[in-house]
Amino acid sequence: MSSIDKKFGLEKSKNPDPTTLSNYVNFTVKNTDLNLHVCFQEQVVEGVVVFELVARQDTEEAILDTSFLNIHEVSVVNSQNELVKVKYHVGERRDPLGSPLKIKYSATRDTSFKLRIAFSTTEKCTALQFMSKESTDGKIAPYMFSQCQANHARSLFPCFDTPAVKSTYNMTVKSPYPVLMSGRHVGSEEGVYRFYQPVPIPSYLVAIASGNLTSARIGVRSHIYCEPEKIDACQYEFENDMERFLEAIEAIVFRYQWDQYDVLVLPSSFPYGGMENPNITFATPTIISGDRENIDVIAHELAHSWSGNLVTNYSWEHFWLNEGWTVYLERRIQDYLHGEPTRQFSAIIGWSDLENSISSMGESAEKYSTLVQDLSDGSDPDDSFSTVPYEKGFNLLYLIEKVVGGKESFDPFIPYYFGKFKHQSLDTYEFIDTLYDFFKDKKEKLDSIDWDTWLYKPGMPPVNPKFDTTLADQCYDLANRWYHAVVNGRKDFGNHFFPNDVKEFTSSQSVVFLETMLSYDQRREFKWFYHPEALNALSNIYSDYSVTLNAEVLSRWLILHVTGHNESYYDKLGDWLGTVGRMKFVRRGYLALQKADKEKAVFYFKKFENFYHPICRQLVKKDLNLS
Ligand code: BES
Ligand code: ZN
Repeated sequence: MSSIDKKFGLEKSKNPDPTTLSNYVNFTVKNTDLNLHVCFQEQVVEGVVVFELVARQDTEEAILDTSFLNIHEVSVVNSQNELVKVKYHVGERRDPLGSPLKIKYSATRDTSFKLRIAFSTTEKCTALQFMSKESTDGKIAPYMFSQCQANHARSLFPCFDTPAVKSTYNMTVKSPYPVLMSGRHVGSEEGVYRFYQPVPIPSYLVAIASGNLTSARIGVRSHIYCEPEKIDACQYEFENDMERFLEAIEAIVFRYQWDQYDVLVLPSSFPYGGMENPNITFATPTIISGDRENIDVIAHELAHSWSGNLVTNYSWEHFWLNEGWTVYLERRIQDYLHGEPTRQFSAIIGWSDLENSISSMGESAEKYSTLVQDLSDGSDPDDSFSTVPYEKGFNLLYLIEKVVGGKESFDPFIPYYFGKFKHQSLDTYEFIDTLYDFFKDKKEKLDSIDWDTWLYKPGMPPVNPKFDTTLADQCYDLANRWYHAVVNGRKDFGNHFFPNDVKEFTSSQSVVFLETMLSYDQRREFKWFYHPEALNALSNIYSDYSVTLNAEVLSRWLILHVTGHNESYYDKLGDWLGTVGRMKFVRRGYLALQKADKEKAVFYFKKFENFYHPICRQLVKKDLNLS
C-alpha cells in the first residue's frame, strides 16, 4: 500500500469548511434571488435575498454568515405560499469570520422552503469599494465594485459563505448608473438591471460593479467594459487574443459553459490582477500597458471558467485546486498558442516567484507554505494567500503530467476531471482518488510521488523540475555579467553594458533579468547597497525601464534600486505606490521601502491609505506593523 492509500484512500467524508459560521451542511440551496439597490449617496447597498432551500436533515435553525451587515427582517415562505416573519438573532462577532445570523425555523428532512432576508450593508463592508466621482478616470459619475473572494460575500449579503455551497442566481439591481453582475444580462429598464446565472456558483463568485461604464467588442463572444476614457486602449489590449484563448482552452478541456466571456477593467485601486467573476472577469488597469504583454492575466482568469468556477475547491484549505489547476491550464494555453518553450519560460518565472514568496514569509512559512492549508484555528484566508497554492500547485500537476508519461498521456484526464466534478466542490483527497482511479495502470508511477511532502510539508517542492531555459538564458547571462562586473570591482560599466542589452527583451524577459539581479541580494556575501556606483550605472544605461508602462517590469526596477539603497528611487517607488492598488505590487513595494527606510514607507502608506481597497489597506497595515 502506498502512503497515499493509508492516508487518504479511506477518507470519504469531507472535513467541514472551518471558515464559515453557517450550518450549510444541513441544506441544499436550489436557487437564490438577490435584489440589490446601490445607494451611492450613503455608500451602502440595500437588499433582499431569497434562498430556496431543501433541508438535508431535520433542523431547528438556519445559520447564515454575515459580516458588518444590518439585518432588517427575516421571513419564511411556507408550503401554503404565505410569508411569515420568523425570529432571528445576530450572534457575537468572531474575527475574521463575522457574525452568525441565527434564524429560528424547524424544517424536517427533505422539505423545501424559502427564506427571505432584508438587509443593508454598512460602511465597514469589506466586499465593496465606493469611489467618489472625483477619484474616477472620467470624473463624471461615482463608481462602486465588489471583491468577494475569499470570504467577503458575507459582508455584501447574508449567505452560506463557503465554496462548498453552490446555487443558481437571479440578480436584480437598481442603480442610477450602468451595472454589471456575474451572470447573463437578461434585460434592463429604468435603472433596473437583471441578470441570470444558470450555472450553480458559490457565494464568492457573486460580483457587482456600477459606474459610468461603456463597452466594446473584443471577440465573437466577448466584450470589454470600462470607463469611456480608456475604452480604445482596453479594446486594443485584448482584441487580438481573446477568442484565440477561448479556442485554445476549449481544445484542452471542453466547451466553454458560460455563454459570454466579458472583461471589466476596473479603476486602479482594484486589489488583484484579475478576479474570475463568472461571465465578467474583473481586471486591474495595470494590464493595459499598450503592448499586449500582460494578457496572460486574462488567460488565467478565463481558465478559471473550468478550474474554480465549474469545479471548485471545497474550502480555502484546498485553494490550490482552484489556483494550481488554473496556472496549469493558463500555461497549457500558452503552450498551445506559442509552443512549449513559452510554457517552460513562464514556469521558470513562477518558480522564482515561489522562492521569493516562501523566503519572504519568514517564520510563517511553517504554516503558510504547505499546499494543503490548515485553517481550523480560525485563521483568515486572506492572510494565508500567497504564491504557494499557485506555483506549488502548478508544479505538482506538472510532475503528475510527467510521471504518467507526458502531455499526451495526461491530456485525457483533463476533460474527465472537469466533467466529473462540474457544478460540484471537491477536496484534495477526492482529487487524488480520482487521479489514481483514472490512471489505474500507472499506480506505481503515481506512488513515486512523495505525496506527504507535497501536500503537508512547508517550503519549496521536493522536486526541482529543471525547466527548459532556452528563453531565459539571455536574461540570466546578462544578469550574470553584471554580477561579475560588480564583484570584480569594475568601474567602467558604460564600456560593457548598453541600452541595446534589453531593447529586444519581452516584458517577461525583463522580469526574469530584474528578478535575477534581485536574487543576488539574497546571497550573504553580496548586497546591492555595497555597490552604489553599479546601481547608478544600471539606472543610466537602462533608463527606459524608468518610464515603462509595464507594471510587472517597473515594480521590479524600482524595488531593485530601493533594495540597493539608491535613495533617488525611494520617492519614485513611494509615488508609484499611490497609483496602483494591485496588492501584489503594493505589498511587495511597501515591504521593500520599509526595509530601506521604514519612516518613508509609513509616510507614503498614510498618504495613500484611503486610495487602497479595504482588503489591501488591512494587509499592508499588518505588513508595516501599523495594526
Ligand atoms: N482568484 C484570484 C484572485 C484572488 C485570490 C482573490 C484569492 C481573492 C482571494 C485570481 O484568479 C488570481 O489568481 N489573480 C492573479 C492573476 C495572476 C495569477 C495572473 C492576481 O491577482 O495576481
Ligand atoms: Zn487565479
